Amino acid sequence: TATTAASLVRAAHATGRAVAAFNVITLEHAEAVTAAAERTGLPVILQISENAVRFHEGRLDGVLAGTAAVAAASDVPVALHLDHVADEALLRTGVAAGVTSVMFDASALPYEENVRATAQVTAWAHSRGVWVEAELGEVGGKDGAHAPGVRTDPAEAAAFVEATGVDSLAVAVGSSHAMTERTARLDHALIARLSAAVGVPLVLHGSSGVPDTELRQAVAAGMAKINIGTALNIAFTTAVREHLAADAAVVDPRRYLRQARAAMEATAAHLLRVVAEAQEP
Ligand code: G3H
Ligand code: ZN
Repeated sequence: TATTAASLVRAAHATGRAVAAFNVITLEHAEAVTAAAERTGLPVILQISENAVRFHEGRLDGVLAGTAAVAAASDVPVALHLDHVADEALLRTGVAAGVTSVMFDASALPYEENVRATAQVTAWAHSRGVWVEAELGEVGGKDGAHAPGVRTDPAEAAAFVEATGVDSLAVAVGSSHAMTERTARLDHALIARLSAAVGVPLVLHGSSGVPDTELRQAVAAGMAKINIGTALNIAFTTAVREHLAADAAVVDPRRYLRQARAAMEATAAHLLRVVAEAQEP
């Protein structure tokens, strides 16, 4: 069944838990994650990034339609969310198409400009009932425009949430986007300080590079939304590579996409359980 990211994240945050959010590139990503959510009996967020829309030549409507159809047919609650949107035109298109939550990413801007742009977008979104995630203190690894090792300051985060009115906040606490090895070490004391300072749910980006134990600790320390992208792509590409290496005659893409989808489902199911396990004290 379709639900909203706002309701899932709010419910998780209110009870000291977290919800996993997976990035969708192909229809197989959406199918795999939804199957994993059904298999584990856990709700999930399917998120579509501005970069994914660009890959599909700007056709957000098509990507949304396919993803929404998969979500609607699910036995468990599945929400759709727009991720890392810097282009305000895309944000408006998404909201017009029925998207109910967005991450507006102005994190590459200096603090004052990030506040100004985010406050404006948030006021606009709230007037349409749309839930907003923003980012303060750039999480590394995206488009090369980042300061490695940067951390979000709790006092600045509190001031940012107050000044912008955002509903949730992505923070820099040691993770980095697009890591293919799970070697990230998070600053759990900082997560706890941020959680106490801001009041709104915190979002962990770049979670693919974070080991299971660190993910559990991050949720225990106050992370309420765990964003995962690259881990699915590792599973997808590894499965395709293995199939092609073993079967030089294959032509029908369904032969290897079936395996890619199954591999993504297994990865998503594992991570859904890790994020949910952290709910237990
Ligand atoms: O917004 C998306 C996430 O931050 C994904 O990061 O691909 O490193 O898991 P990841
Ligand atoms: Zn991210």
